[in-house]
This record gives sequence, structure tokens and C-alpha cells, in this order.
Amino acid sequence: MTMLKYMIRGGKPLTGEVVIGGAKNAALGIIVAAIMANEPVTIENIPDVDDVRVLLDAVESIGAIVERLDQTTVRINGALINDVNVDQEAIRKIRGSYYLVGALLGKYKKALVALPGGCQIGSRPIDQHIKGFEQLGAKVSIHHGKIDAKAEQLHGNHIYLDCPSVGATINIMMAACMAEGKTIIENPAKEPHIVDVANFLNSMGANIRGAGTDAIRIRGVQKLHGSEYSIIPDQIEAGTFMLMVAATRGDVLIKNVIPKHLEAITAKLTEIGCRVDEYDDCVRVRADKRLSYANVKTMPYPGFPTDMQPQMTTLLSLSMGTSIVTETIFETRLKYVGELRRMGANITVEGNAAFITGVENFTGAEVSAPDLRAGAALVMAGLAAEGITSVDQIHYIERGYERFEDKIKGLGGQIEKVDVEDEREVRKFRMKVG
Ligand code: UD1
Repeated sequence: MTMLKYMIRGGKPLTGEVVIGGAKNAALGIIVAAIMANEPVTIENIPDVDDVRVLLDAVESIGAIVERLDQTTVRINGALINDVNVDQEAIRKIRGSYYLVGALLGKYKKALVALPGGCQIGSRPIDQHIKGFEQLGAKVSIHHGKIDAKAEQLHGNHIYLDCPSVGATINIMMAACMAEGKTIIENPAKEPHIVDVANFLNSMGANIRGAGTDAIRIRGVQKLHGSEYSIIPDQIEAGTFMLMVAATRGDVLIKNVIPKHLEAITAKLTEIGCRVDEYDDCVRVRADKRLSYANVKTMPYPGFPTDMQPQMTTLLSLSMGTSIVTETIFETRLKYVGELRRMGANITVEGNAAFITGVENFTGAEVSAPDLRAGAALVMAGLAAEGITSVDQIHYIERGYERFEDKIKGLGGQIEKVDVEDEREVRKFRMKVG
């Protein structure tokens, strides 16, 4: 397998326009929910990223028919599913695989699915998912690295989540929409993609009310039907571009977004002196000077998203003054700080907080992406840095950002994907960027 890395020459402000793709985390839920119908379901605005490809292969492997109509549209038909056992090597590496438990349990009352992987950003337990399935009447056990869930019949129940878990909320919602009777999920997650998955399930005939509020009410139905649906734009991809523009002191119109979903990010950018103009379905981000400090704490939606924390820490490392970023969702999500320090960042980590003293400039270095979002943050650091940066382990980044380098190039950023082994490609890049 060829190992690829990004070569980046920093220092150019990003300018122009970029179009944001569909939300990865919504797509993972929606692709799996689609197999609950026995009729074709057409899904538009699917992001072209590795996690989505892995999940599409997984649903195909158990008998669902998957037709890729174009790069961002897929038709899925779950009528011929003949197996509830999902366990490929690839599926063990992604997080969204856990949705197969909720969907298969809801539809067939049984599921046997490899335990989920995903980025190494903390212990990431699934006890709330399991509690929810059990309260719906399923027996759940874990053996040989798989979750085994089965039930004679699922019955609606009143379920209280100890923490507002995105994954548990979606999973329980999927199982409950084909349970007998009424389910109420209290203290659910309220992220935009929870609402998107609920809207999608409703478009297939489910009866879910209150997604996005403090209680989700679900009345079970016997079957779900075909549908056509378009996924919401990716809030985190949009946010990542917003911060990249701010870090390079650029001026970019970021298109195909829902500005309301970006409020926590917009508010912080405005607070530190960046200009953000909101339109119906785009935002324009401009910065022409060094930005200021801020304190940021990650919180469940509508708070500041943990998936934007590494990018924000990177931006504040280049800002004036001292900032504190506190990570409250995932305990080991500050591991990438060592890589940023190699580029000149001045950050001390104590527990779950990063204490940042802003520096004027980063300098290019060889760094390694430790996970998806921190990988994107390192690319952002490279775009803002003096000189040349290389970021390896970019397969993490490709799990969640579609055509990342193409979109950056479209904004005038100097970035190239090269083969790690191929010195000629590396030399070619150096010659090109001068
Ligand atoms: C999802 C997103 C991920 C994002 C995260 C938080 C997907 C595929 N991934 O991950 O990008 O960073 O939401 O917005 O959508 N928890 C428990 N028990 C559980 C479940 C969660 O204690 O059963 C805790 C976790 O340890 C964490 C917090 O709840 O501290 C939030 O996790 P959760 O919202 O479930 O995150 P994921 O679904 O894994």
C-alpha cells in the first residue's frame, strides 16, 4: 500500500470560494438507517470520504443493494438483507459501525456487530447504547470482540441517558422506531445530525418528535418505506475551513452551510477579531490582522464542538495573548499538541486543559496526523506556517474530509499529496513552490 503525506508550503492567505460537502456523521447514521426499509432509499449529498465507503461496503456485505448513482448520491435497498453478522477488518476501525446494532435490532430483532473503533481520543465507552437497547427489551452481550443483541420483541420505554451521547441517541432512536409502543429518550444529544437522522427516519415513515430538544418521543411503527433525502452540510468541515481562513488571514466565501449550525464557531471567531458575515446558505470569513486570545470549552451542541477543538487550539496558538482551551468530552484529545510544538507553538497541557501563549509565527516541520481532526489542524498549521511542512498518516484525514487538498488548492493554498517513499515527488513539490 502506498503511504501518502501532504506537503504544504505555508504563508499564503486562502481566498475565493469553497463548497462544503454533506455531513459525515449524519451520513453514517443515515446510510445505516436506510437498510431498515424494504424499499429503495435514495440519499443525496453523501460526502465522498473513507468512513462512508467502509460503511457502504459493510451494508452491501450483509445483502443490502447499494447503487452509487453519482459521487454524492447513493440508492440503498435493504429488502434482501440475509445476515445480521457484520465483522470486516475495516468496519472495526470506524465509529459509525455501532449504528448497525440499532438498525438491525430494530428491523430484525437481532444483531451481531464488531465493536466500533474510531479515533483514539479517549476510552469511548458504549454503555449508554447498551443500556438503551436493554431497556427496550433486548439481551445484549459482548463476546469475541462483537456486540450481540437480540430480542423476542422490542417494547417502548422511558430511557434516561447519563450523558448526551450522539451515538447512543441515534442508535436508540433507530431501534425504538420499530419497537412496540412509545419511547421517550431524556437527556439526548442535540447535534444537528441527530435532527437530520430523525428527519430521515420520519421520511421513511417513522414517528419521531422532539429531536434537537431535551426529550425525543418515538412511537414505534411496524415497517418503514422508501424515501428520497438530502443530507445536511458538514458543520465540522465548514468550521475547519473557517478557521483555516482566519489562520492564514484570508477572505473566503464558504458555501452550502447552515449558518445556525456554525454559531458556536462564528461567535468565537468574532470574539477574537475575525469578521464573519452570514448569508442564507453561506458564510464569508475575513481576517486581515493577527487575532486575539480567547477561552474555549468544548461542550455538547449547541456548545463549542469537540471536533473543532484541535483547529481552535491551533488558531489561538497564533493569536495574541494567552488562551485556555478546555476539553470536556474526550479525555485524551490533546495528544496532538506535541506535534504543534514542533512547529513553534507554545502550549502547556495540564489535565484536560491547554494553556496557550500565542506566537507570531509557526515554522514548517515534519509532523504526523494522530487522528482525523487533529490531522486537519496540522494541515491548517502548515498553511499558516513559514516554509514547508509535511503531514503524514493522512489516511486519518481522508476518513472525514472529502477532496481536502483539492478544496485547499482551489483557495490558493499550496498543498500536494505525495508518496512518502517517492523522493522525486517531494523534490518536485519543493521546486514548484520555490
Ligand atoms: C460522535 C462523533 C464524533 C464526535 C462526538 C462528540 C460520530 C461517528 N462521531 O462520537 O465525531 O466527536 O460524537 O460530538 O458521529 N459516552 C459514554 N457512554 C456511552 C457513549 C458515550 O460515557 O455509551 C461518553 C463518551 O465517552 C464521551 C461523551 O459521552 O465523553 C460523548 O460521546 P458520544 O457523543 O457518544 O460520541 P461518539 O458517538 O463516539
